[in-house]
Amino acid sequence: MSLPSKKIAVLISGSGTNLQAVIDACDSGKISGKVVLVISDNPDAYGLIRAKKHKLNTYLCQGEEELTDLLKNYQVDVILLAGYLKVIPPSIIHRYRNQIINIHPSLIPAFCGKGYYGLKIHEKVVERGVRYTGVTTHFVDETTDGGPIIFQEIVPVEGENPTELQQKVLHREHCLLVKTMAYFCDNRLEVKGHHVLVKGVEDCKH
Ligand code: GRF
Repeated sequence: MSLPSKKIAVLISGSGTNLQAVIDACDSGKISGKVVLVISDNPDAYGLIRAKKHKLNTYLCQGEEELTDLLKNYQVDVILLAGYLKVIPPSIIHRYRNQIINIHPSLIPAFCGKGYYGLKIHEKVVERGVRYTGVTTHFVDETTDGGPIIFQEIVPVEGENPTELQQKVLHREHCLLVKTMAYFCDNRLEVKGHHVLVKGVEDCKH
């Protein structure tokens, strides 16, 4: 018997390429879920246009109360932070423990935390001269970028400037995010303390 499809809320602030990857993967059946709600804190986020093209419910939302009500009204199973720049209020983190997923364009715990967002991350990576950067998906807790890590993927740094590196990493983000959401929606991620156990890992390439 197939599992019921999970209701996904996606929170964005910008271009929404990760949102697009998730929408497409839900449509093609790679993710057993449906994006029921797209919330942006930024009226100019291009991700809102992407969502409207797919006739998804979109909301511009700034406040905690409004956010709480929306998530409740749509009975969401999982909240995806896909380039969302605002901090999630503790009450929502508490209510949706291990149900909020973030994607970060570096290998956490490197190049993360306060002040590490957008192009700044890749500027610091290039400045430091590391040979490898990458992508991390993780559950969100009360710390900045400190929650249980789900998956990581390495991206080699091969002389790109920060903007080029951002694009290279972003491309990998889409794959890792789809994989992460697919595993979550299939109930294959189990959080034990600060670790995420991946069920059925032997039959995948990760
Ligand atoms: C991505 O790099 C994501 O990891 C970060 O913000 C960026 C958002 O890109 N948190 P997009 O809006 O999904 O195109």
